[in-house]
Amino acid sequence: MSESAQRIAVFGAGYVGLVTGACFAELGHRVTVRDILPDRIEALRRGEVPIYEPGLAEILARNAERLSFATEVAEAMEEADIVYVAVGTPPTYSGDADLSAVWTVIDELPAVERRIVVAMKSTVPVGTGEKVRHRLAARGLAHVGYVSNPEFTAEGTAVRDFMEPDRIVIGAFDEAAGDVIAALHAGIDAPIVRSDVASAEMIKLAANAALMTRISFINEIANVCEATGADVVKVAEGIGLDRRIGKSFLRAGIGFGGSCFPKDSLALKQLAANSGYHFQVLNAVIEVNELQKRRVIGKLVARLGSLRGKRIALLGLAFKPHTDDTREAPAFVLAGRLLAEGADVVAWDPVAHADGLVGVEQVATVEDAVLAADAVVLVTEWPELAEVDWAAAATSMRTAVFVDGRNMLDPRAMHDAGFRYDAIGRAASNGLT
Ligand code: UDX
Repeated sequence: MSESAQRIAVFGAGYVGLVTGACFAELGHRVTVRDILPDRIEALRRGEVPIYEPGLAEILARNAERLSFATEVAEAMEEADIVYVAVGTPPTYSGDADLSAVWTVIDELPAVERRIVVAMKSTVPVGTGEKVRHRLAARGLAHVGYVSNPEFTAEGTAVRDFMEPDRIVIGAFDEAAGDVIAALHAGIDAPIVRSDVASAEMIKLAANAALMTRISFINEIANVCEATGADVVKVAEGIGLDRRIGKSFLRAGIGFGGSCFPKDSLALKQLAANSGYHFQVLNAVIEVNELQKRRVIGKLVARLGSLRGKRIALLGLAFKPHTDDTREAPAFVLAGRLLAEGADVVAWDPVAHADGLVGVEQVATVEDAVLAADAVVLVTEWPELAEVDWAAAATSMRTAVFVDGRNMLDPRAMHDAGFRYDAIGRAASNGLT
């Protein structure tokens, strides 16, 4: 082990914990990833990767020598200098983040005499660090350092996002603890933002809120484009080239989903409300997103009339391409609404499953999904959908109606393929049919 290498215990073997553990091992540190799920730990010990994340299996395998997996706290904590908390913080009924898994980790930390540093990767409300500090002090562990070190990794690009981040945020109560966490990242070329703990906690929530705001903003522009005859794809290109605005997160569609945005928007909304503040912009962002998922139904009804007994093919179940994650996926909301309207729903996805979607038939190929369908909805922009022979698909359908929920395909080409094609906010190009 080189001099700068540290011993790290990562609590939580989910997306965030595994990526964090694997990447720190890649940087030369010794890492033990601990989870309460014995099956998961057993699988990891056998070299199996329980989640689909590009590059993760390779980086875990490459660093196997520096990585171990444990179910016992004591085993994970053996000689650990740093403890990363990467457990889930799902929303409760009130919209607040459920921190019970975080508190379990904190309360189970052994009463070590050495000076360890606890680093928080889980997304937590502002003020959590302060509470952790008090809770540790009450157990006689005031010498344990605490740092908020939020993650900004997106699924599908998590390993790259970790190794080549736009910035590293380190919020600490004392400089020495912050220095320890900064040193861990040696080898990563990125600006480091050092702050107090509360600000680091807020940076994570605010970054996500800013991204969601951009999506709901462009979705509303799309809806106005539809009503006024403009094309949101052109509009996004035209505004995105303004350096003050930038291009990213301006893809209009059927709304955002995933394990972070929906949960974190509720958590920030609730955090503000608990402090007596009504976060108006964020409330609108959430509401626009809910409505956006449902607008597809209106487009289908405009083409088909009643949806009762109509066969609707959903292409894509994952909340975005290159992941099997269906948490808060728009496809699930859409499927539920379609079933409620009396439609028959058939779905295709190259990796994600329609688990829990009672009444939805999942098929293995796009061709099977569209066969004899009354309409197709492109829900997730999987690259393979660009390669489909759409003209052949159109002839195999009962009625060739297509709603492109991600503005993925070329409106003219789809029209020429024989479809009555609608997209999101593309009135100018949709004048074709
Ligand atoms: C997001 C953040 O990007 C990441 O920094 C944070 O740590 C966790 O949440 P992720 O949920 O993996 O990551 O996916 P992301 O690629 O950001 O997409 C989120 C959702 O927004 C998806 O449903 C996607 O389809 C949607 N989206 C994204 C749009 O609708 N339009 C866009 O322009 C961009």
